[in-house]
Amino acid sequence: MEYRLAIIGFGNVGQGFAEILRDHGPRLLEQFGVRYRIVGVSDNLKGSIHDPAGFDPADLLDAVRLSGNLGGVDAPDRGWDGVEMATRSSADVVVELSYTDLETGEPATTHIRAALDAGKNVVTTNKGPVALHYAELAEMARERGLEIGVEGTVMSGTPAVLNGMNLLRAAGIKRVQGILNGTCNYILTRMEEGSTYEDALQEAQDNGYAEADPTGDVEGFDAAGKVVILANLLMGVPIGMDDVDRTGISGLTSADISAAKDAGERWKLIGTLEPTDGGVAASVRPERVALSHPLASVGGATNAVTYSTELLGDVTLVGPGAGRLETGYSVLVDLLEIHRTSV
Ligand code: HSE
Repeated sequence: MEYRLAIIGFGNVGQGFAEILRDHGPRLLEQFGVRYRIVGVSDNLKGSIHDPAGFDPADLLDAVRLSGNLGGVDAPDRGWDGVEMATRSSADVVVELSYTDLETGEPATTHIRAALDAGKNVVTTNKGPVALHYAELAEMARERGLEIGVEGTVMSGTPAVLNGMNLLRAAGIKRVQGILNGTCNYILTRMEEGSTYEDALQEAQDNGYAEADPTGDVEGFDAAGKVVILANLLMGVPIGMDDVDRTGISGLTSADISAAKDAGERWKLIGTLEPTDGGVAASVRPERVALSHPLASVGGATNAVTYSTELLGDVTLVGPGAGRLETGYSVLVDLLEIHRTSV
């Protein structure tokens, strides 16, 4: 079966996904019987191209690598913005990968509404529209018999969302606790090793974990967005960003880190969700945890989430929470899930 894809936003994640198609396309066809054809790419900086016949992902990647844009790729249609791509393209699935804005959710939310209105499935790794408008977008998709995949919004390609939704909800999720921001976890790990906060943040930026504006990471907004997403998806409680009791790590000093270390403990920025009577308590805050805590040994930019359930006890998933191929992989997972549920 063939799926035609229009990609909005061709930065690291879009290119990571294109690399996966370039390098693993034949295996995916053999393993799952699917072929993914990129028919459109729209990017504010790199340009916009559409061809119903599709592009070779290698050509797209080469063009960006050699010239920084898509200008040199032959295409009958050019210059479409995100909404035009979502609406006019010949795609079955719109892959929305534009930059994250956790205050407005734009422009991604507009792209997603346009895609659903045009009868196209959606896959996104963008936290903004999912944290702010998931209930509305999921309802739009449901009414139209379409799918919206959001695996990459939490822990990139580490399968935290679909596992939680499909395989753990029936076990009765009593609590969710996670290390959901790689930048903060990296900074805390490096500070424990003797680095300064500033140096560690710079390294996280150099390594590409941090958002364009790292305030969102270190003040806990990024982790709070993920907590909101998990509350909506796993607990069915439509909380918003303001419902998360949020504190970041920027107030932690080297002395705080040393004091915890001397006491055999460790600081972690932990996102927590706990059902309450008729709602859910949500928080993101630095916590001093004992070294025996299931999340204490998760170091560097790695993420983790522990689902505490009635029937299974604790189930912890540990893995990457960011990265080009890692987040690109989440797009593939969502696409395969669309295929799985449609056959
Ligand atoms: N800036 C995020 C992090 C990237 O550090 O975890 C993934 O959402």
